[in-house]
Amino acid sequence: TFINEISKFRVLESQIKDKLQLEHVIVIPGNSDAHETVKEQLGKACVQYLSSILSAEQTVAITGGTTMSEVANMMTPLAHAKNCTFVPARGGLGEQVENQANTICAEMAKKANGKYRMLYVPDPLSEESYQTIKEEPAIKEIVELIHDAAVVIHGIGDAVTMAERRKASSTVMRKIKDKHAVSEAFGYYLDKNGEVVHKVRTVGLQLDDLKNANKVITVAGGKSKTQAILSFFKQAKSDVLITDEAAANQLLKGD
Ligand code: F6P
Repeated sequence: TFINEISKFRVLESQIKDKLQLEHVIVIPGNSDAHETVKEQLGKACVQYLSSILSAEQTVAITGGTTMSEVANMMTPLAHAKNCTFVPARGGLGEQVENQANTICAEMAKKANGKYRMLYVPDPLSEESYQTIKEEPAIKEIVELIHDAAVVIHGIGDAVTMAERRKASSTVMRKIKDKHAVSEAFGYYLDKNGEVVHKVRTVGLQLDDLKNANKVITVAGGKSKTQAILSFFKQAKSDVLITDEAAANQLLKGD
């Protein structure tokens, strides 16, 4: 029955909450690997959650990817959170334009009737340019905004999938494979114990900075992301997980 279905999801949510020590978990039906509409529902759930916690004038830092793009797609005016600012969490990470955080945050801001700021950094960055760019006043200003963000919303990907999607060099690809990276988030590639295997050099949020945010919201679903999700939570601080049924069932089996 419908009631049984609902309580099945509430049970899943509370089991994951306990297992990953989170403040809040939302599980939506289906498997986003198999159906695009499930990813839309992840986006919708994220928008609903965001509008319940966000207050006026706050800054929201977001990452890129197709899941985050669905969050933007589902964004609505945020009635209780006027004048919010959307910023990309980190500089260029090698995504195509439609999956870039800059693009996604502009769309979110427009739909939420908020503001946005962009972070223009070439990608990939050499060590030398990185050192120079991070001292640029215009970059410094936006990086400060990013660091002060009250809310961070981000995706997680499978490490090899992400390295391929970003057309990582053969050296980076070898490192990721040899060191058995399984997850990627914020430009960090992590192994199954959550250890950092490789990091994309760019300005913006570092994993350590997550503890400064009031609320970190992770949005990741699909059975194929199970290992990636488990690995991420071994390393990073996040308060909320929004996922789908397929990933949720697998998460409870894995360690
Ligand atoms: O590249 C930005 C990013 O958020 C990554 O950090 C993450 O691994 C990926 O996108 C997730 O992408 P998708 O939602 O398309 O699986």
